[in-house]
Amino acid sequence: MNSRPASARRITAPDIRARKGRDPIVALTSYHAHTARLADAHVDMLLVGDSLGMVLYGHGSTIPVTLEQMITHGRVVASAVAHALVVVDMPFGAYEESPQQAFRNAARVLKETGAGAVKLEGGVRMAETIRFLVERGVPVMAHVGLTPQSVNVLGGFFVQGREEAQWAAIEEDARAVAEAGAFCVVLEALAEPLAQKITEACPIPTIGIGASAACDGQILVMEDMLGLNPRPPKFVKAYADLASEIERAIADYAEDVRGRAFPGPEHVYGLKKGK
Ligand code: KIV
Repeated sequence: MNSRPASARRITAPDIRARKGRDPIVALTSYHAHTARLADAHVDMLLVGDSLGMVLYGHGSTIPVTLEQMITHGRVVASAVAHALVVVDMPFGAYEESPQQAFRNAARVLKETGAGAVKLEGGVRMAETIRFLVERGVPVMAHVGLTPQSVNVLGGFFVQGREEAQWAAIEEDARAVAEAGAFCVVLEALAEPLAQKITEACPIPTIGIGASAACDGQILVMEDMLGLNPRPPKFVKAYADLASEIERAIADYAEDVRGRAFPGPEHVYGLKKGK
């Protein structure tokens, strides 16, 4: 098993920033303590993504996710890991109104979870807010390309930059968040040559999801790469088929209970010796 080289301390946002153009940055999402603990030895960053709204809570988009949910899951993940940088997503409606609103809510996230950074969606339009947060002590991971919180404006979860005419605006988004002080930027669902071009030009690490192998790092939703999503996007590589394994285990358990094969003698308690 190939793990991340052991580090005595927790990885920080400046550590990630310093990895630009060096060895690839490994990131995954995590929403719970057990998956966070398992991933901690192998990844550099764990993102408590607002994708939890779709993956855990069964919503059709990330729009309904609340700040309270992000804080609850952020706290659970941050308290389970010792090494990886924990980043918590700012949910829709918690930062777009003004830099002040963003700071108030991002400060709550950092204070109440113990995470090391927040993530928010948007390029040029969020640059002022990113600068405001970073200047006040909040490390920010930016997110451009497909920004799922804009699903109602975009009309769906569409790949971005498949026509060269769209490239300049997306390149400008990446430039703007880097200039504003973001320590890295997620490139989601971008045409591959555009993701490569942005990675070459961008002074901060790019973290690809459905983007390019040339990105400075990669991120996937953990449940997708574990095979728990029945309809994963094209960009997901499944490293396990946990859905089948879970179903098999549940079916075996049901059969054992119905056949009185479980619990066995090794699973029940006898009397104390000598009584
Ligand atoms: O919410 C999320 O999990 C994300 C990743 C897919 C980057 O934003």
